[in-house]
Amino acid sequence: MARAYNFSAGPAALPLEVLQEAQKELVDYKGTGMSVMEMSHRGKDYDAIHGEAIATFKELCGLGDDWAVCFVQGGASMQFAMIAMNFLKAGATADYGKQGTWSAKALKEAQKLAALRGASVNVAADCQKDIPTRQPSASEWKWTPGAAYSHICSNETISGAELKEFPETGSPLFCDMSSDILSCERDYSRFGMFYAGAQKNLGPSGMAVVAIRKELAEKGDDRIPTMLQYRTYVNENSLFNTPPTWGIYIFGETMKWVKKMGKENLFKLNAEKAKKIYDVIDSSEFWTGTAVKEFRSNMNVTWRIKGGDEDLEKKFVAEAGALGMSSLKGHRSVGGLRASIYNAFPVSGVDALVGFMKDFEKRNG
Ligand SMILES: Cc1ncc(COP(=O)(O)O)c(C=O)c1O
Repeated sequence: MARAYNFSAGPAALPLEVLQEAQKELVDYKGTGMSVMEMSHRGKDYDAIHGEAIATFKELCGLGDDWAVCFVQGGASMQFAMIAMNFLKAGATADYGKQGTWSAKALKEAQKLAALRGASVNVAADCQKDIPTRQPSASEWKWTPGAAYSHICSNETISGAELKEFPETGSPLFCDMSSDILSCERDYSRFGMFYAGAQKNLGPSGMAVVAIRKELAEKGDDRIPTMLQYRTYVNENSLFNTPPTWGIYIFGETMKWVKKMGKENLFKLNAEKAKKIYDVIDSSEFWTGTAVKEFRSNMNVTWRIKGGDEDLEKKFVAEAGALGMSSLKGHRSVGGLRASIYNAFPVSGVDALVGFMKDFEKRNG
């Protein structure tokens, strides 16, 4: 059966090469006589997989020995809670960007913890409800001097708005990079921690990949449950309990694939893929981009037909689906259309979409 062009926002398309390699190794991983899913997480075979996955990711992000990379179950949503549990202590203030659905969810978790603990949360900028969707401009952010940390989201997956420049916040900067990690050139040393639900650009669902400065992890609250403390993951190399071994294996293979592709090539390709779709959107009044141009995401392209003609959008999604292009429907909370084109999404799929858009416009414009 032919593979679909899968435009899903996550779980999302994985590199075909990675899937094929995993298939080859599924029942007998490199002569061990068992699947990665079946082997002990304390054995030497798994240990090599675990170590290499972390090392490759660190190399791709340019992280030194002062950084730890952790695998934490519960996805990016668990990070929203864990960050506040670890770092939002009584009497402290944390700054949060409210840039769209996801950063607003992170903010909400922090507000809950702040109410419990007698801490406070400052909304550093709020453009969550703006249409066209966007990210805060540099002058809009209001940071709290002496804040415990600041939290932002680099790419709002639902609205399709991406931060192109990171703010100077004056406190350790924490960033939810779930939907654009390793998709473009980025100075990761600017952050105190960054994390991503794995299921978009990194591997399968089931965990978040968390990069955190070791000294920061040590400063987290040590009265909260062991499994919720970053220091546990750092000190135990994410092996305090049984980690999601299969997910880590595919993550490692995906990182090797990124390295083999050459990240500069991949980043360039990502920009080119997005531009092809935005060029069609800008070519006529039939289409309207959802995000302000300067904040358009290269990972999640969002748009409407005739300013929001829901019947035509339904028709678009159905016809595209019949042609093997799946999951072009916008997020259920906002409607419209969305093409998620992460690292592993092939150029041929973008070309197919662009061709279909032109044809659809001719027939319905
Ligand atoms: C930017 C962003 N943050 C957080 C999440 C939540 O991730 P998870 O489902 O891994 O909790 C998502 C999911 O789509 C996302 O796009």
